[in-house]
Amino acid sequence: MHVLTTSLGLVALFAAQVAGQSAPSSNDNLYANYDYCQGVTPIAGKTYKPIKGATLQKVQVLIRHGDRTPSAVLPGDKTNYNICSSPAEYNLIAPASSHSLHTAGPALRTNILVSPSENLFASGYWSGNCEVGQLTNKGSLQTRRVGEQLREIYVDQLHFLPKNLDPEELYVRNTYIWRTRTSAENFLNGFYPARTRDSKNSVITLNTYPQSIETLILNPTACPKLGLLYQSFFKTPTYTNHMKSNYALMQKVNTILGVDKIPTVNTTLNGDTVMPRLCNNLPLGCNPHDPTQCLTRKDVVDLMTQSTFLYSGIFRYESTAEEIKRLAVGPILKTLSASIRATQKATASSSSSSDRNKNKRRVRPFELYSAHDQSLDQILAVIGQQNLPWPAYGSSVIIELWKTAAKKDVIRVLYEGKVVPAHPKLNCTLDACPLETFLAFIESYVPTNIAAECYPY
Ligand SMILES: *[C@@H]1O[C@H](CO)[C@@H](O)[C@H](O)[C@H]1NC(C)=O
Ligand SMILES: *[C@@H]1O[C@H](CO)[C@@H](O)[C@H](O)[C@H]1NC(C)=O
Repeated sequence: MHVLTTSLGLVALFAAQVAGQSAPSSNDNLYANYDYCQGVTPIAGKTYKPIKGATLQKVQVLIRHGDRTPSAVLPGDKTNYNICSSPAEYNLIAPASSHSLHTAGPALRTNILVSPSENLFASGYWSGNCEVGQLTNKGSLQTRRVGEQLREIYVDQLHFLPKNLDPEELYVRNTYIWRTRTSAENFLNGFYPARTRDSKNSVITLNTYPQSIETLILNPTACPKLGLLYQSFFKTPTYTNHMKSNYALMQKVNTILGVDKIPTVNTTLNGDTVMPRLCNNLPLGCNPHDPTQCLTRKDVVDLMTQSTFLYSGIFRYESTAEEIKRLAVGPILKTLSASIRATQKATASSSSSSDRNKNKRRVRPFELYSAHDQSLDQILAVIGQQNLPWPAYGSSVIIELWKTAAKKDVIRVLYEGKVVPAHPKLNCTLDACPLETFLAFIESYVPTNIAAECYPY
């Protein structure tokens, strides 16, 4: 793992740290167990500790979906992705009999067919039973486990949420992309398993924004300026040096994959199309013309690490990084901060008034945002040190609002199960950042006239 850091210069040094490899970094120990295939969730009574004497007010959990298939089929990819038989979507959140809707139908499930004997196009597709970018069986289990682990913390350990499901205590949002919905469903099955659901009141709403105005990921459709900034980043020395440093690796992998002559994919680092093989213990692939030339685990991990630079770099390098953070992350930071303020305001008013408010509902005490690696990374780019590892499958960023014994509101942020080392400009540590310091900082990234900034023409 040291090879990269000595041979590729500063850019690769950064990228190696992104993957939590052994680049010299103060975060080495903090993220020593980093694994792209499996994110780390805090564990009740072990790695998770409440703030002493403080009371929890609100939790915002952002998770990356679980293990998935590649988001595109590489030409000639004949991997047998036979790992999607139980997408768990047929496990309806509420039993059909308990829906208040009279139209509730039978439980349904999805079956993806890849049948070369019947579908003429199937020869250009991998084999197995998976759609591109689909949550796999492993991914279902992973996200369910995250739900179970957070239940142990917020229900069993802290009694912050009730033992039995009260849908009004949960706010759930996923992106328009299928795998984040199935990840949310699996999370919820772990967080409130069937035995904890009352048949009359167990429908959970999955909130989703339309694709064209989605704010959980970088959105150049809603904000064309982001597309322009991306194009200009590709021309910077930071990016071109990164590609140069990785040219040999790219050529080696693309040759083994048999795509070195295919212009649509031969100039990219195709980490995303091979990493799922490694995460699922599938054959990594050998050169069709020379079966002795095969991909190694190291090739695949290095390639994936270098591939993520495309997304992480623009938020951290070049003079445009601050503008990109405003336009890409500002919209979701507004949502997160407004919701924290709403909870805090409601808590303050109910604790200062008399008994008649005692039964008043809490305002969104628990929020789940089921999203993507880039969703988590862009938030970390704003609030965290710049060298945090790239979000793994099933990883989580957890934002907690606490009231301390001294009645101070503070924010704690966890990632990979640990307190996030704060961005130097944040002026607090994220084990207990004064609420106003935290909110003022993230709100400084929220554009006040986003149309003017996104359509500068
Ligand atoms: C990509 O493929 C094209 C067409 O075969 C070829 O001319 C070009 O040199 C290739 N590029 C790389 C980087 O291998
Ligand atoms: C940073 O925090 C300290 C202590 O909370 C405060 O006194 C100081 O004014 C803050 N500085 C800035 C630039 O916000």
